[in-house]
Amino acid sequence: MKTTLTFPIHQTRKSRLEETDFSNLVFGKTISDHMFVADFKNGDWTDLRIEPYQPLQLSPANATLHYGQSIFEGMKAYRTPEGDISVFRGDANWKRLNESAVRMCMPTIPEEIFMEGLMQLLDLDRDWVPSAKGASLYIRPFMFAMDDYIGVKPSDTYRFMIFTCPVGNYYSKPVSVKVETNYTRATPGGVGAAKTAGNYAASLYPARLAQQAGYDQLLWTDGQNHDLIEESGTMNVMFKIKGTLITAPTTTGTILKGITRNSVIQLAKDWNEPLEERFVKVSELENALKNGEVDEAFGTGTAATIAHIERIHVNGVDYTLPQKSADAFSHRVLAELDGIKYGTLADPHEWIRLV
Ligand code: COI
Repeated sequence: MKTTLTFPIHQTRKSRLEETDFSNLVFGKTISDHMFVADFKNGDWTDLRIEPYQPLQLSPANATLHYGQSIFEGMKAYRTPEGDISVFRGDANWKRLNESAVRMCMPTIPEEIFMEGLMQLLDLDRDWVPSAKGASLYIRPFMFAMDDYIGVKPSDTYRFMIFTCPVGNYYSKPVSVKVETNYTRATPGGVGAAKTAGNYAASLYPARLAQQAGYDQLLWTDGQNHDLIEESGTMNVMFKIKGTLITAPTTTGTILKGITRNSVIQLAKDWNEPLEERFVKVSELENALKNGEVDEAFGTGTAATIAHIERIHVNGVDYTLPQKSADAFSHRVLAELDGIKYGTLADPHEWIRLV
């Protein structure tokens, strides 16, 4: 691998690879041997290093713990049939991390530090990239405030880190969702478009209520009137209604600019699929479900990949979607994306970078 940045690499004395059961991976539970770290001090990124994965030492006054300046990304690396390691759209994750950083009053990270930190970490931990079908290496870049200070102001110091986890499916079967018209995820002018910890924290209680009622996830609606479908808790969401693929736009600042969402839209355009980026009204979805006009519903996300939705709860009624045919758009787009990521299909949009 050609490198443009050099920094210290402290390797672990004892790899955990041998004791890891790759045939039984629970999403997010198994962490690879090393992590990349960089610190922001005196207005600059410094002390770049790779270290053995280990706990952090934080002061109880650490600003992140109190005021929530914390942002993250989710991306994946894949094992190709030739044994190479491919990373999907890392540049898009880098850009989105920096958009989140600006909104959360945090420093942006230069592309070279993000990419070189990532590539050298993946090179070192390449044996952690699973080769089983459907498995991958989930990559978690994140940044958080490091000032020890009690008072509401942006921190002066930050830490950027990347660690990785070999993973299988996030959802192992089609999901059921409940349209949420009481609680709010995001409002215009808020932080809904930022991948920041607080958005996920705020979603936990409503999601738990939905889970207690028998649903896997929520379909969030707009915070003002609760009559437009926005996104799901772990993924963007798409419907195919009367032959047209429809997904919410990301122009209101209330929806995460999903990279899988963007890739699916690109493929739909390549295939001349009828496509509309607009809000689906709750009433429109309800009527379409009643009339059997929802051909497909699915979530899109890095962790979730393409997650088929099999049941939707709207206004007190459960609607079960019909079984999808083998040539359903969601099946085709999942197969195409997997082919590109795992290196078995052409990559016309240059989404893949090999480590
Ligand atoms: C991702 O898809 O990468 C996320 O961050 C969502 C989370 C459910 C893991």
